[in-house]
Formats: sequence, structure tokens, C-alpha cells
Amino acid sequence: MFRIAYRSNLCPHTKSADIDRIVAIANSRNADLQITGAWMLHDGDCLAAIEGPPLAVREIMDTIWDDPRHTDVNLMHMEQCDDRLFSGWALRFLPKKAVEADPQLQSHAGLTWLSGFAGGLNAFYAPRQTGAPTSAAH
Ligand SMILES: Cc1cc2nc3c(=O)[nH]c(=O)nc-3n(C[C@H](O)[C@H](O)[C@H](O)COP(=O)(O)O)c2cc1C
Repeated sequence: MFRIAYRSNLCPHTKSADIDRIVAIANSRNADLQITGAWMLHDGDCLAAIEGPPLAVREIMDTIWDDPRHTDVNLMHMEQCDDRLFSGWALRFLPKKAVEADPQLQSHAGLTWLSGFAGGLNAFYAPRQTGAPTSAAH
């Protein structure tokens, strides 16, 4: 089997209805191809992993790469593996609220591994700086 982790930025025009559509299609297609995975999303920042048969991972990754609903797709990691880290999830969608609400997710081995590419779960889901100057800066 093969596993990859990637990071990307959701485009500003991608709305929650688009996300719902992506997750629905991904769940059915990944299940057909024996792919499992997770998609963490916070403030437009995507961190995701898929794993499964190498050719299937490649096929899915080709479509993800070209998907105009996100940009700056950055392949963070790829590895051969014997076991799945995301068993039972065709593509689990994980906005901050979902992870906050479920302590089991906070210690999930796959999410610990995936979020490691962004400094850990807390760092990934931390409030983002807007770039606007704060009053303390004056
Ligand atoms: C961040 C992100 C993750 C995605 N993950 C998957 C996935 O795991 N499996 C999948 O089939 N499609 C995934 N998609 C959607 C595909 O890029 C593609 O749109 C989908 O497979 C169907 O293609 P179509 O909408 O052109 O028919 C993802 C899209 C984005 C933006």
C-alpha cells in the first residue's frame, strides 16, 4: 500500500456547499477504490492524507492536483505502508469543530501522524493571524 500527505489552500470562491459535494463524491469514489483518508480544514488551510493501492492513490491524487477549488497543492510526504492509519474512513472531513467535539479524534494515531506535518493538532487548528496590526503594535 501507499500513503501520501499533502497540504493546500482552499480558494476563496469555494463555499461550504462545494465542500459538501467534494466530501460526498470523495467518500463514494474512495470507497470504490479501497482508499481511506482524512481531510483537515482550518481557515482555508487543507491538510489531507490518502492511503491504499498505489495506482488508486495516484489516480485520486491526479484529480485532486487539478481541482480548481483549491490551490498550492504541496505534497508533504509519501511512503509505502503495510497498515492503514485511517481505517474505516473513506474520507473523514475534519474541520476544527469536529475534532474539538471528539476526544478520541484528538488522540487518533492517523491524525497525530498527519497533523505532525503542520506542527501538531493544536498548531494546525490554532487561530490564524489575520495580518492586521493589533493595538499592541502601536
Ligand atoms: C482538498 C480536496 C481533497 C479531495 N479529496 C478527494 C478524495 O480523497 N477523493 C476523491 O475522489 N476526490 C477528492 N477530491 C475531489 C477531486 O479533486 C475531484 O473533484 C473528484 O474526485 C471528482 O471529480 P469531478 O468533480 O471533476 O467529477 C478532493 C478535492 C479537494 C479540493
